[in-house]
Amino acid sequence: MKYIPHPPLQLSGSRELLGRAAQVDATLAYSGYVLQRDRLVDGEYPMFAERASGAHVWDVDGNKYLDFILAYGTIILGHADPVVSEAVTKEIRDGFAITLRKRVQVELAELLTSVIPGGERVFLLKSGSDATSAAVRVSRAHTGRERVIRWGYNGWHDWCANRPGGVPAAAQEVVSTFRYNDLASLEAEFARYPGQVACLLMMPFEVDPPAPGFLQAAAELAHRNGALFVLDEMRSGFRMCLGGAQEKYGVSADLVTFSKAMANGYPISALVGTERMMRSVGEVHIGSTFHVNGAEMAAAIATITQLRDSALLKRIESLGEQFQQGLRAQVAGSTLDAEVAGVPQMPFLRFTEGDEEVRQRIQDLFYTETVRRGVLLHPNHHWYICGAMTQQDIETALEATAAGFRAAEAAVNHD
Ligand SMILES: Cc1ncc(COP(=O)(O)O)c(C=O)c1O
Repeated sequence: MKYIPHPPLQLSGSRELLGRAAQVDATLAYSGYVLQRDRLVDGEYPMFAERASGAHVWDVDGNKYLDFILAYGTIILGHADPVVSEAVTKEIRDGFAITLRKRVQVELAELLTSVIPGGERVFLLKSGSDATSAAVRVSRAHTGRERVIRWGYNGWHDWCANRPGGVPAAAQEVVSTFRYNDLASLEAEFARYPGQVACLLMMPFEVDPPAPGFLQAAAELAHRNGALFVLDEMRSGFRMCLGGAQEKYGVSADLVTFSKAMANGYPISALVGTERMMRSVGEVHIGSTFHVNGAEMAAAIATITQLRDSALLKRIESLGEQFQQGLRAQVAGSTLDAEVAGVPQMPFLRFTEGDEEVRQRIQDLFYTETVRRGVLLHPNHHWYICGAMTQQDIETALEATAAGFRAAEAAVNHD
């Protein structure tokens, strides 16, 4: 059956800006990493946004998209949430005034300690990398050891950068990793470095959730070896439930790091832990001029309060379930090899065709069709659901993914 693909989007504004950026902007000119990520399918995805509101983003060419990338998980309520915007505007109107500390710093620390299991002290920073690096430094100070075992994406600083360029070998010689959901591989790592590991720092999961008991066993193994157990909750925090993966999976961490959804798009992060662990903050250098900026703290308070006082997180979960159920039905009815993955709040569709070239072709065709139909889905990173989405939005997304399957099937079966 011949399938007629949706006509291409008009993206001349994005292309023009990309051409200008190539002359002046190093992130866009040279960083293949960023560029690959942003182009998603070369020539098909928009590069530059004009504005965003609720569940939607408009690009500089006026195309409107239903956004499942959600600024890489920083948006939980919806873009430009009015309550958050008002709280931030008030802070800005009052002047940043970071000559002194702002009241919101104390209020946010009180709020975080009231919702995070085991959270007795809070250190506020700006980025996710700030917070994970602070967790490592505190762990090293607390244990007097240097070695780190880590898992997942933990940021861009020397100890966890995923490209070797510009990183002193010594910084990564004391860091190693293991296979997720594979306790034997983690045990082997601890056995290789007896008495040397300061912390086990890991995302609770990336796409596939933890096997039952895995996180508890990992925490216990860390403690048995005298190391701290640190959860990197940059993506899972304030998205699954208020208390994060600790609450969801019934595990306790010594230190937890948050950012992203915590302030609905504003740059802030937090290191949270027990009083006993966080006391080590006094022995180390962690500090940056803008760490004390109040606007982002006001955004975090407005975001977390709304999540706490509403049923939004439940709603996000059920919208994600609706999406995953619909996708499962489409996979079952398709001739393509694919599987629905992830937790409902962060769903994903994985193409599993064995031949890499064919798989890439299927993927490109699928995502070309969905983006042309105004649905922004990431081909290589799990997606996110936000509170501004509706059941109708999920149906719209499912119509686009159904068309994506048809487009890819027609082309592949035609070969
Ligand atoms: C799990 C996790 N940890 C750490 C980071 C680093 O955060 P940032 O990019 O804000 O430095 C990220 C960013 O994507 C992340 O997903």
